[in-house]
Amino acid sequence: MPMITSGCDEESKKFRASMDPALQYHYGELDIARDPAHPNHALPPIRSDHRRILDIGCGMGQSLMALQLSKHVEAWGVDCDVAAVAAGSRIVPHNVHLLAGTGEYLPFTDRSFDLVFSRVALPYMDLSRVIAEAARVLLPGGEFWAMLHPPSMLLHRIRQDIRSGRMKDLILCGYIGVNSLLLHILRRQFRIRGCCETVQTSSGMKRILAAGGLQPFSVCLAPHFIVRAYKI
Ligand SMILES: C[S@@+](CC[C@H](N)C(=O)[O-])C[C@H]1O[C@@H](n2cnc3c(N)ncnc32)[C@H](O)[C@@H]1O
Repeated sequence: MPMITSGCDEESKKFRASMDPALQYHYGELDIARDPAHPNHALPPIRSDHRRILDIGCGMGQSLMALQLSKHVEAWGVDCDVAAVAAGSRIVPHNVHLLAGTGEYLPFTDRSFDLVFSRVALPYMDLSRVIAEAARVLLPGGEFWAMLHPPSMLLHRIRQDIRSGRMKDLILCGYIGVNSLLLHILRRQFRIRGCCETVQTSSGMKRILAAGGLQPFSVCLAPHFIVRAYKI
């Protein structure tokens, strides 16, 4: 397999084009994670006292790779995409470990991590469940960081669907809208055919974090929707 460091050289471009679309997506996100000038670039701040770090919904470990963690840090990533975890495991540094699993049932003991983060993966999960799991595996005082999907993203997708006549996706957007409303009002989501996607609101997220045992201390809406919290 060619060594893929960036999507720019010809060999690497050809190799990517031959890949499964999900893997192509993860390699594209690796480029973004490594490019601080990219508009979608966002990574959690790492403190010098962070020793054990977890990325929930890590894909092939693109954020963990881009963070260039010191060798004293032990990092773990969990994702339900077995192919992404397998591909990432071949290229991550020695102190980064990737596991196939779900964010709703983290395979770690209580109080294992100083920092738990998730970049645009919680919108596909059962939020109450995954926040409770993040709180369980965090050390007291440990930090939680998540990049989420704001409602404006769903509105943009609906407008695009209407313009290009994508009726199937429009129906999916309707479902995501209803699920998001239920999440915002009742902290509940419904799964249909394995999908429980939502967009989030800052007030809804504050309630979900607090109910799960995390104390929110920062909510940023632009340029990215990012919430940060401490384990109480
Ligand atoms: C939009 S991608 C984000 C990947 C990566 N965090 C990034 O920033 O590029 C969402 C990821 O969440 C994963 N995912 C979705 N539902 C999941 C679940 N219930 N448990 C674990 N991973 C999940 C997907 O497989 C996918 O890799």
